Amino acid sequence: MTSVTATTLRVRVWRGGERGEFAAYAVPRHQSQTVLDVVTYIQRRLDPSLAYRFACRVGMCGSCAMTVNGVPRWTCRTHVAQVAKADALEIAPLAHLPIVRDLVTDMRDFFDKWTRASGRFTGARTRHDDFARVSPASRERVAADAGIECIGCGVCYAACDVVRWRPEYLGPAALNRAWTLANDTRDVGQRERLGAVAGDAGCHACHTQGSCAELCPKHLAPTAGIAGLKRLAARAALRGDL
Ligand code: SF4
Ligand code: SF4
Ligand code: FES
Repeated sequence: MTSVTATTLRVRVWRGGERGEFAAYAVPRHQSQTVLDVVTYIQRRLDPSLAYRFACRVGMCGSCAMTVNGVPRWTCRTHVAQVAKADALEIAPLAHLPIVRDLVTDMRDFFDKWTRASGRFTGARTRHDDFARVSPASRERVAADAGIECIGCGVCYAACDVVRWRPEYLGPAALNRAWTLANDTRDVGQRERLGAVAGDAGCHACHTQGSCAELCPKHLAPTAGIAGLKRLAARAALRGDL
């Protein structure tokens, strides 16, 4: 381990699986350094056995999310200067997901819930049909576009209290995805989707306090989509469609 200087960060990093522990490292500080730069430095210079995940480094792929000083964040776009307290960082895997090793979590539950929320497009047209045209100004298109930039990073999921209390809860990202599709006028799987998200583990479990929207790095508001799904589910129930 390198010696601690005035420009050194004291970094504690989770090592091992569910029963692991934090290990301490000293990392030189640099201007414009990101949390992912810190993790990469440790893996390349101090301990090559450190496991972590990233791909794009530019906020596109969603694979680099970790818990930084207790808060879930995308690490490739989080600058050390924003989050380090007294030159100290604590970096852990995302909460609410099983730990594979060190900073790598198993994302299967997270993405399985997208499937359970019927988060896939169901079309009816064939290649022989004309293209479906949806006006960019239509209410549905505006609502769908507001949630479409999700990168599947899991930050909202790790921030959600209800996921912690009720592990079966579909969670903000899967429900946000369901909402974008609920507003896709080309999709013919609406009834099935509404049935999937209106159950006990779906939109009605959300307490709307909004940690998901507060921390989403893409500035999406899953809470708005969840409120929309609650309205659609209530109307469908009144019609006797659910
Ligand atoms: S507003 Fe709903 S989905 Fe978002 S963090 Fe809170 S309970 Fe979870
Ligand atoms: S809604 Fe935001 S925080 Fe949640 S997975 Fe998508 S991009 Fe990440
Ligand atoms: S590495 Fe792709 S979003 Fe951070």
